Amino acid sequence: MDTVTQIAALRERLAACRSQRIALVPTMGNLHAGHLALVAQARRAADVVVVSIFVNPLQFGENEDLAQYPRTLAADQAALVQAGVDVLFSPSVSALYPRPLTDQTQVSVPGISDLFCGASRPGHFVGVATVVCKLLNIVQPDIAVFGRKDYQQLHIVRQMVFDLALPVQILAAETVREPDGLALSSRNQYLSPAERALAPLLFQQIQHTAAQLGKMPPDRLASELAEGLDAAGFCTDYARIVDADKLIPLHSGSEHAVILVAAWLGQTRLIDNDVVPYFSFQPEES
Ligand code: PAJ
Repeated sequence: MDTVTQIAALRERLAACRSQRIALVPTMGNLHAGHLALVAQARRAADVVVVSIFVNPLQFGENEDLAQYPRTLAADQAALVQAGVDVLFSPSVSALYPRPLTDQTQVSVPGISDLFCGASRPGHFVGVATVVCKLLNIVQPDIAVFGRKDYQQLHIVRQMVFDLALPVQILAAETVREPDGLALSSRNQYLSPAERALAPLLFQQIQHTAAQLGKMPPDRLASELAEGLDAAGFCTDYARIVDADKLIPLHSGSEHAVILVAAWLGQTRLIDNDVVPYFSFQPEES
């Protein structure tokens, strides 16, 4: 595996591969089995696999964990070699953003970027769309792989690719979980032992809600989900049940619903989701 830190060097490394299928897996590093499942999917779909590791300052809010975010490059490199990755792109902030961050051209996917996670993390999805657009322009892959764990992010990336007619196919990978159901996340390591013990309840409650869909109006179910999580010791940021394809309110034509949740456990913000077939709520006649 070649590790490359400069844009020009990456372009040079990939110039000889342009007749082959290239896949990109963008990450912020501190790799776990969730990231490696994306890499495996990329490996199956392409001849050349490029992974990027870049903790993107543009997508972190002022009071967020940019400084604290775990950086484990040596261990990540070893895992990527093991996974058969061809090229690791791990630029510094100044290599990726040579000009001041405040002057950086930004990519904004309007509307959806201000909802759900975007409502409590202003600017986050502009930062995500900007860095993903830039990485796609640098690597110019045929395929890029993203996780369903970050459901709204995946949706925004797809929207950006469509709106800007970027010549790349976006593949989605299933969420990889701990045996107790907790979705793998680099932020899980911030949890205290007591919080870690409570954390699997997030996905359990989401699944419980999924089983009730169709028996109660979705908004009521979403409120009960938030109340249940809060009663258990979480501080729910939002719990919403929306159309899984468009992330708009469920309607009679909706085929799938997605249950989207963000909840704090102490200082750690966890997100998770579940997609289920949607049957609209039919109140029983009295
Ligand atoms: P990061 O959190 O490192 O995640 C990189 C990719 O791994 C994302 O597509 C994410 O959805 C996926 N992923 C994370 N945990 C997963 C899990 N448990 N199962 C399956 N996939 C999982 O998401 C980002 O970085 C950044 O926002 C990025 C897209 C790289 C832009 O900076």
